[in-house]
Amino acid sequence: METFYVTTPIYYVTAKPHIGHAYTTIIADILARWNRLLGKDVFFLTGTDEHGTKIEKAAKEAGKTPKEFVDEVANTYIETWKALNISFDKFIRTTDKEHEKAVSEFITRIWDNKDIYKGIYEGWYCVPDETFITEMELNDGKCPECGRDVQKVKEDAYFFALSRYKDDLLRIFEEDQDFIKPPSRLKEIVNRLKGDIKDLDITRKSVTWGIPFELDKEQTVYVWFDALLNYISALGWPNGGKFIEFWPADVHMVGKEITWFHAVIWPAMLLAAGIDLPKTIVSHGWWTVEGKKMSKSIGNVVDTVELARKYSADALRYFLIKEKPIWEDGDFSESGLVSRINGELLADLGNLVARTLTLAEKFKGKIEGEEEIADNLDMSRIKELFEVYDVNGALNEIWTFVRSVNKYINDTEPWRLGGARLGAVLNNALEALRIISILLYPFLPETSESMQNQLGVKLGSINECKFVTFDGKVKRGKNLFEKIEVKQ
Ligand code: MSP
Repeated sequence: METFYVTTPIYYVTAKPHIGHAYTTIIADILARWNRLLGKDVFFLTGTDEHGTKIEKAAKEAGKTPKEFVDEVANTYIETWKALNISFDKFIRTTDKEHEKAVSEFITRIWDNKDIYKGIYEGWYCVPDETFITEMELNDGKCPECGRDVQKVKEDAYFFALSRYKDDLLRIFEEDQDFIKPPSRLKEIVNRLKGDIKDLDITRKSVTWGIPFELDKEQTVYVWFDALLNYISALGWPNGGKFIEFWPADVHMVGKEITWFHAVIWPAMLLAAGIDLPKTIVSHGWWTVEGKKMSKSIGNVVDTVELARKYSADALRYFLIKEKPIWEDGDFSESGLVSRINGELLADLGNLVARTLTLAEKFKGKIEGEEEIADNLDMSRIKELFEVYDVNGALNEIWTFVRSVNKYINDTEPWRLGGARLGAVLNNALEALRIISILLYPFLPETSESMQNQLGVKLGSINECKFVTFDGKVKRGKNLFEKIEVKQ
């Protein structure tokens, strides 16, 4: 059986999940569900990144031990993903014993290959934030978190020979133009890689909340080095059956700011250990909220669970995917969400289902006849868009079909028809709804299920997205969406 392995970044447990985290996870969920519909054996991984000074500090501020703190926030992530109907197969935590073991094993291997050496770490430290900052992370020479001055620090550390892999990586990017998506991001990475590449310090002496460094127990492993390994430790690397079955990953879904870690550092680590590289790094754009970057100090961090409770998980999923092209940045606003619920989910889809099913329930004749709107559905275009991970493009294409079915109903006016002609129009409309219910399953799982219940059909697979004679038992149920009243 063909396999499909998709991952999200593992999220820092410094704070609760917001719509930015939800966005990445929803895209990964859509890809997982789509590939299940294609009949593939899917493994969908998400989880939490739980080590490092920032987390130790957040725990202290909350008056908890690091372990108590990370347990609590990891649970919030799991609860949030459940509330959004995220169908992950495994939730990995970097404090899992199996993960910690795999990290030590990996380090020993690349040490044996002479890709790790001892040196002196010279970097920056933000005293009030108690965090180490690399040259790369500095923002105009200041702390990227709080904007304050940073201090230079010097301590013993171990380095990973990243620079050794520069030419290999440039060759790989040249040969496989699909390695990083979109192409503009590939270009950025290649340009940066052509510059001066330094080796990476992968241990810290003064950080205690981390995985002990196997070769020198006075040191702990740098969080990024630890975190990236989750993608293989979750499969039981080196010997786990899942590793043999699912590696290399088909897609690492990431936000644009961590593309470098996934497209350069991670592949270099894998090359050093002689492990195959993932197939694609897909790097999406960012969300602002009402025009501003989300931040605790501005107080505009959008709570996903609250939104999902207020409007439904499907409405939120729909908005985030429909609102902006996946590669670009976009802006979130609650009024935008409401207008897509009223103007699209309800006006285009909900009403279409309600009026078609009402007519079908009353009709006593035979539902059958010519396939008049089969050509409105461009399945090969939808498949192509999924192949390049353009979930926004795919949803737009599906929605064009939804609207074309509405137009068909308006044009044919089935409420004025009867007999065989009505049977034929209903066959077209019901078949269209059955197919739409399959196509929407990755995006709107609850709506998809409700449509199938009302149509009296089973979910089916992508192969079943073609017009035949309708074979369901219609029973109209609850409206798919209710109008949201907008206060002036
Ligand atoms: N722990 C690292 C990732 C390690 S992966 C081996 C990390 N965690 S994070 O909690 O900061 O999550 C970052 C990810 O969350 C981004 O890459 C992106 O996927 C998502 N987003 C966080 N804020 C976002 C927006 N405002 N908009 C869109 N997505 C963003 O980095």
